Amino acid sequence: MKYRIEGKTFVNLEDNKKTKSIKSNRSITHSHEWQKRQDASFQEYTDIYENGKMPDYVKDLLVLFRGYISNYILFYSRKRTKSRNMKLLDVGCGVSKTLPIYMRGIDHSIVYVGLDPIQINFDRRYLFVNARIEELMDLLDCDEKFDLFVFSTSLDHFEDIEDVAKIIKELSQPGALALFFVGLHDPEIVARKVGAFLFGRMFETLTLPKLLIRIFGAYLIRIPASCLSLMRRDFKLRNDISLDEKHFYYFTRESVRRYISMFGNILDVTEIPDTNAQFICCEING
Ligand SMILES: C[S@@+](CC[C@H](N)C(=O)[O-])C[C@H]1O[C@@H](n2cnc3c(N)ncnc32)[C@H](O)[C@@H]1O
Repeated sequence: MKYRIEGKTFVNLEDNKKTKSIKSNRSITHSHEWQKRQDASFQEYTDIYENGKMPDYVKDLLVLFRGYISNYILFYSRKRTKSRNMKLLDVGCGVSKTLPIYMRGIDHSIVYVGLDPIQINFDRRYLFVNARIEELMDLLDCDEKFDLFVFSTSLDHFEDIEDVAKIIKELSQPGALALFFVGLHDPEIVARKVGAFLFGRMFETLTLPKLLIRIFGAYLIRIPASCLSLMRRDFKLRNDISLDEKHFYYFTRESVRRYISMFGNILDVTEIPDTNAQFICCEING
């Protein structure tokens, strides 16, 4: 069955019925490896999105990403879409019933379409496709094109980025943009983040005895333990060994540029200080 997006609904091209959510026949295309990695990360997702365990710094990063998206919406809608409504596809939008934090309060004239294969909260408060990006072409009318794509911490969860880039090119309006929020694994970026955390913890308390105990504890236990674990990570990265069972990719500053260049021309790279987060804007070339 094929669908067309009309206003804020999907229209079934066979019987003209309108709906807010559409679903693919998932059992056909899920690979064993993909399923294994999604299952491994599922508990983390539900804890963060459903069980209220989102750390403050993650929420803050999502809010910053909202600002980044808004900026490009302003730029893009003024310059390119002119009078028609802009269509945005959120690739790997997550499991929340309501809009993800990075999309809340953004221009109401935008047609937002969430896409995610994890099947909880099928009945969402926004247009939602329950499928993998690889299946999307089987569900949407071939004329359906998007102006803007958002990949918020989802790029490292896809099996084959080259394949995803090809699909995005087919789904793009001329000059469409893709905005990425990615986490980096360069050893010195991770080390800086760990160091900031360790040092910050010491100064959470400013009474002298407690401060001395923490400094002593840090030098004796925490700093050596962190160094060991950073060296282990570094070794794994260099030797192409998976850092965990949840992702397909472990980006560095250099590799993420290489992958995102498969989509088109990188227009902007913004690194968020004291974190391993980067926001990247890319103009899709068809
Ligand atoms: C870390 S979550 C990010 C969720 C959301 N974008 C956010 O930032 O809050 C990554 C998401 O990518 C989705 N994903 C993984 N493989 C996918 C695929 N092949 N097509 C579409 N989404 C996929 C997962 O289901 C998961 O919800």
